[in-house]
Amino acid sequence: MFEEAKVLISEEVLQARVRELGLQIAKDYADKDLVLLGVLKGCFLFMADLCRHIELPLACDFVGLSSYGDRTSSSGVVRITSDLTRPIEGKDVVVVEDIVDTGLTMKYLMENLGQRKPRSVKICSLLEKPSRSVVPTHIDYLGFTVEDVFVIGYGLDYDGRYRNMRYIGVLDAP
Ligand code: IMP
Ligand code: MG
Repeated sequence: MFEEAKVLISEEVLQARVRELGLQIAKDYADKDLVLLGVLKGCFLFMADLCRHIELPLACDFVGLSSYGDRTSSSGVVRITSDLTRPIEGKDVVVVEDIVDTGLTMKYLMENLGQRKPRSVKICSLLEKPSRSVVPTHIDYLGFTVEDVFVIGYGLDYDGRYRNMRYIGVLDAP
């Protein structure tokens, strides 16, 4: 179906890891007031699968973030395009992100969330690209580390497309 995108992480491997992450979070948050906070739009498939492995009465909320930049790299100038719908004061927040690349988006979000007085904030990211790190990011729950390649699928896009792929792929050079 997506001949232009070669498989980097297959659907089976993805699903197995997402399940492990969900079970680990369920264990760690059994007695907490958990809010899963997804970063739109990239989180949407990951968060949908992840939250179904966390059998706790958690709440889901979303924040839309957009960083000015070109199609494949972020500039570090981040803005909130859609804010949370409920206060997180006193809550245990797990941010659900698709990929930590330079780390600039997460840095901005963590500073912003800190001002809202949550009880705790941790980061769950499906992917990280450490080779591109500009600011160090502590990822509490990490799916996979990837090389310095532009990845698409399972929520991640290239110019708005390919988010619906069931696997993480790499776009063939045109
Ligand atoms: P950062 O601020 O550089 O860490 O970038 C974070 C955002 O850039 C991610 O949440 C993604 O939306 C996007 N991004 C970074 N690398 C990739 C990639 O390889 N594929 C698709 N989106 C990416
Ligand atoms: Mg993102």
